[in-house]
Amino acid sequence: MRDLTLLLLTLVALPAVFAVKSHDFKTCSQAGFCRRGRALAERAKENPSWKSPYSVDPSSVAIDSTTAAFTAGVKSSIYPEVKFGLDVRVHRDGVVRVRMDEIDGLRKRYDEAASWALVAEPEVSQDIQWTVAKDAVRAVYGDNKDIEVVVAYEPLRVTLLRNGKEQIVLNGEGLLHMEHFRTKEAVEQEKSGWALPEAPEEGLDLDDAQVVMQMNPRSWFEGAGDDALWEETFGSWTDSKPKGPESLSIDVNFPNHGHVYGIPQHATRLSLPTTSGEDAYYSDPYRLYNADVFEYLADSTMSLYGSIPVMHAHSADSTVAIFHAVGSETWIDVAHPKPSSTHTHWISESGIMDIFLMPGPTPADVFAQYARLTGTSALPAQWALGYHQCRWNYISSDDVRDVQTRFDEEDMPVDVFWLDIEYAEDHKYFIWDKKSFSDPVDMMHDVEEIQRKMVVIVDPHLKRTDSYPIYQQAKELDLLIKKKDGQEYEGWCWPGSSAWVDFFNPASWDWWKSLFKTVSDGDKWAWTESTENTYIWNDMNEPSIFNGPEISMPRDNIHYGGWEHRDVHNINGMLFHNMTTLAVMHRTDPPKRPFVLTRSFYAGSQRLSAMWTGDNLGTWEHMAVGVSMVLSLNVGGFSFSGSDVGGFFGNPEPEMLVRWYGVGAFSPFFRAHAHIDTKRREPYLLDEPYKSIVRDILRLRYSLLPVWYTAFREASVTGLPVVRPHYVVFPQDEGGFALDDQYFVGGSGLLVKPITSKDVTETTVYLPENEVYYDYFTGQTYRGAAKGKNVTVPAELHQIPLLIRGGSIIPTRERPRRSSPLMKYDPFTLRVALSTGGTARGELYLDEGETYAHREGQFIWREFEATTEGKKGKEIRVRSRNLAAQKPGEAVDGVALAAYDDKNDFARAMERVRVERIVLLGLAAKPKSVKAAGKDVDWEFKAGAAAASKAEGSASVLVVKDPHASITSDWDIIIQL
Ligand SMILES: *[C@@H]1O[C@H](CO)[C@@H](O)[C@H](O)[C@H]1NC(C)=O
Ligand SMILES: *[C@@H]1O[C@H](CO)[C@@H](O)[C@H](O)[C@H]1NC(C)=O
Repeated sequence: MRDLTLLLLTLVALPAVFAVKSHDFKTCSQAGFCRRGRALAERAKENPSWKSPYSVDPSSVAIDSTTAAFTAGVKSSIYPEVKFGLDVRVHRDGVVRVRMDEIDGLRKRYDEAASWALVAEPEVSQDIQWTVAKDAVRAVYGDNKDIEVVVAYEPLRVTLLRNGKEQIVLNGEGLLHMEHFRTKEAVEQEKSGWALPEAPEEGLDLDDAQVVMQMNPRSWFEGAGDDALWEETFGSWTDSKPKGPESLSIDVNFPNHGHVYGIPQHATRLSLPTTSGEDAYYSDPYRLYNADVFEYLADSTMSLYGSIPVMHAHSADSTVAIFHAVGSETWIDVAHPKPSSTHTHWISESGIMDIFLMPGPTPADVFAQYARLTGTSALPAQWALGYHQCRWNYISSDDVRDVQTRFDEEDMPVDVFWLDIEYAEDHKYFIWDKKSFSDPVDMMHDVEEIQRKMVVIVDPHLKRTDSYPIYQQAKELDLLIKKKDGQEYEGWCWPGSSAWVDFFNPASWDWWKSLFKTVSDGDKWAWTESTENTYIWNDMNEPSIFNGPEISMPRDNIHYGGWEHRDVHNINGMLFHNMTTLAVMHRTDPPKRPFVLTRSFYAGSQRLSAMWTGDNLGTWEHMAVGVSMVLSLNVGGFSFSGSDVGGFFGNPEPEMLVRWYGVGAFSPFFRAHAHIDTKRREPYLLDEPYKSIVRDILRLRYSLLPVWYTAFREASVTGLPVVRPHYVVFPQDEGGFALDDQYFVGGSGLLVKPITSKDVTETTVYLPENEVYYDYFTGQTYRGAAKGKNVTVPAELHQIPLLIRGGSIIPTRERPRRSSPLMKYDPFTLRVALSTGGTARGELYLDEGETYAHREGQFIWREFEATTEGKKGKEIRVRSRNLAAQKPGEAVDGVALAAYDDKNDFARAMERVRVERIVLLGLAAKPKSVKAAGKDVDWEFKAGAAAASKAEGSASVLVVKDPHASITSDWDIIIQL
C-alpha cells in the first residue's frame, strides 16, 4: 500500500476507478539502455549480414587446472583496445556457468549479484575434458556423454546441446554487447567521426551492413546517437549516471523449445506471451525492476515488486533453464520465430554477465539444478500454512480480540491475525501506538491462548526523528544509505521524512538482528513489547519511496562498497527480509522456524521467507492472474506465495469473495487482506449461504494441511514446487503446456481448477492422460485420454473443481478446530483413489511444526500404498510403511535418513494418533471381508455405476471405519472381493 495522495483521492472518489499510474513507470523507450539494446536488435534484424563483433582470442585460451574452467580473452572488433574476460565452467551436476567481465577497465562492473543469490559456491566438475580446436572449444559430458557445451570463437557463441540438438544458445543472434566504461571526453572526441553521410552516395546501398560497418563500425554497432549515456531524465527526476554507459545485452535462444516460463514477477500468463516479432502480444519487454506499482494492470509486462531472473524453456523433448545473476534493471524480449522455438533478449543496466545454463532434461532436473544454485524453500512452520486474517488496519487491541471472538463464534478456523502500519506510533515500527494498542503483550497472549500467532509489519523506512531509537542507532552506527554526495539519503514514505538502512553493509546485520530480541540484555534496546509468537511482515522493500523516481530510490544513491543503487536495486529487498528472517529465527535459543512475509524478492529469497503478489485489485481479472502469478513464482523456485484474498483494493461482492477463498485455499500462502478504505469483509460478516460456503472452504484447507505440509517438505528437499503446472507433471503432454488455470498440489495427485469468473456453474478440466480422476467430494469419476481430454465438472458457487488423480492416496484431518496447532493429535482419514490398474500411493510427512527438531530426526515420514493382488484381482491390500527407511541414501536438511529412527520422541508422542477412516474409491465389487491385523473391521460399501477401470460415472465407495491403525506404525488392511 502506498501513495497518500491517491489514497485520499480514492477515499473521496467512490466507487474507486482502477487505473495504474503508468506514467509513473518507464517503458523500454523511456530507459536509455533498453532503448539502445532494442535498437541494436533492430539493426541486427535489418542487416542480413549482421555478425557479432565479439570474438575469443585463441591465443588466450586457458584451462584452469584446479577449477577445470575454460578461460579466454574476448575482444570486440569495434573497440579493439577494450579487453574482456570469459570464464566457462561446468558444475558437478552439469550446469554450465558463463561469465564475462570487462578487464582492466576504467571502473569495475558490479559482480556480486551471484554471491547474494547462490547458497554456496557451486562445486565444479573435475571430469570435464575441454577439446581445444582452431575455432572453438568444446566439452562432452554427462552420464551418457549426451551433453555438449561449445564455445565458438568468432563470433563468440556459447551453445549447450543434448544428443546433438541445440538446447540453449548465447549470442546466436549477435546481440551481445557489454558497454565498456569510457569517459565523456573520449566519446565527444570521437563523435565527430561518427556521423553517417547525410545522403547515400551514388551506388552505395546503406542497408548493406558490410559497407556501413566499414565506413563507421561504431555507429553500425552502437547506433549513431549519444543516447542517454551520461545523464537521463524521467519525469522530474534526473539520474546523474556518473559511471556513464555500462549496460549488458545478450540474446539467449532456445531453438527447440516453444514455451518459456518464469522470470517472475509479472501479471501475465504462465507461458510467456511474445513481446517482439510479428504479432507480438505485448509491445514492451518483460521488465525486472522491483517497483511498488499502484493498482497494477492484470495483463502486462510491467515490473512488479520482485525479480527472479530465471527462465524455463520447455518442449516435449526436454526442459532447460537459465538463471542470469544480475541485480540491476533488466528487460527481456520474447519472440517465437517458429512455434517450436524461442528467442529471448536480455538487456540489463549494469553488472557482469553471469549466466547459468541448466541442462535439465526434465522439469524435475531443472528444479534440482536451480535448487543447488540458490537453495530450496525453507520448510515453514506448520501454522504458517493455515489461514491468515489481515486488514489495513485492525485498529486496536480490542478490535483484534473482537475479530478473534467472531471467528470462534462462527467456528471458522484461523491461525494468524495481522497488523498493518497503523499499530506503530507515527509509523515508527516496533513502537506501539498506545492510544489504540495500550496492552500489546496482553493482546498477543489472548491470541496465543488459542495457539494462534500474530504478524506485525516492520517496513524498511525509518522515521527521521531523534525520538526514534531505531533511527538514532542506525545513524550513529553509520548504517544508512547515502546520496551520491555522501550525505544521508532522505526520502518520503509512510512516516514522512525517512531514511533507509543499507543492508549491504555487514555492520547492519547483527544490529538488525538484535532489535527483535524480546528480552532486554542490559540497557540495550529490546522489543519487550512483543512475544515469541509475534512474526514479521516486511513491506515496501523495493524500496518504495513516495517522492522518488518510479516511486523508488535514486539510482545514483550509494551503498556499502561504493556500489550504486542501480547495481543492486533488485537484490535490495531480499537483504532486508533475509536479515529480518534471521532476526526472528535467532531471537530464541534454540531457534524457532521464522515467518517473514516479504513483498520484494530476488533469486534466493525462497530460502527464508514467504511472499505475496502485492496490492492486487478486487476484480475477476486480478483473481485469475493471481493464479498464474503464483504458478510462475513456483517455477522461479519461490513456492511459498499467494495473492491477497478478496483483492487489496475495492469491495468484492459476496460471490467474488467466495471464489477468492477458493483460490486462496489452494495457494501455498493463504491470506485475506484489504485496503483501509474498503468495507470490512472478514468472512463471518458474509450473509448466508456465502458464510457457510467460506466456512467449508476454510475447513477444507485445514483438512488438507497434511497434504500441503508434505508438499512443502518435498519442496524443501528437492526444489520441486508446491503447486505444479501441467508441464511440470506431464512434460510430454503438449496439450498442457499453456495451461495456467489448473494445477497439481505437490506430488499428492490433487488437481484443482479454482473458479475465477462470475456466474459459473460448470467448467472444463483438462485431463492429460488415460487415467481415471475422481471428484474429491462426490467420487464422481472422469476418464482422461492419452492425448488429453476435456471433461465438464460441476462448479456451482459451493463447489471447487478438485479431482484426485487415480493412483493417489490423500491423507487428511477432518475434525474442525479453531487453529492448526490444535489439530496436533487429531486422527487421519486416508482417501485411496485406485488407478485403472488397481493401485494407489501417497505420502505423509509430519513433525512438531515449529522448531528445528526435525533436523535431528524428530519426524514421521510414511508411505501409503494400495495394490491389487490375488487371482483375478480379488484381493486389495492397503498398507503403511516407514518411507525414511526406504531412502537410506537421502538426507533431510543435511540429516542422513540412514540414521533415522522411526521410534524417535516425536513419533512416540504420536503413537496414539490413528487412522480413523479409509475411504477407498473405485473398487470393482462389494468386498466379502475387510481385515486389519487378521481381525474383521467395520466397513460400509456404496456400489458405483462404474469401476475405476470402466467408463465415467460414480465410483464405488468403501468406507473402512477405525481400522486400528496408528499413523506411526506399519500395518496392512486386506480387502477380499
Ligand atoms: C542471508 O543472510 C545470511 C547471513 O548473513 C547469508 O549467509 C545468506 O547468504 C543471506 N541470504 C540471502 C538470500 O541474502
Ligand atoms: C480442451 O479445451 C481447450 C479450450 O477450449 C482447447 O483449446 C483444447 O484443444 C481442448 N483439448 C482437447 C484435448 O480437446
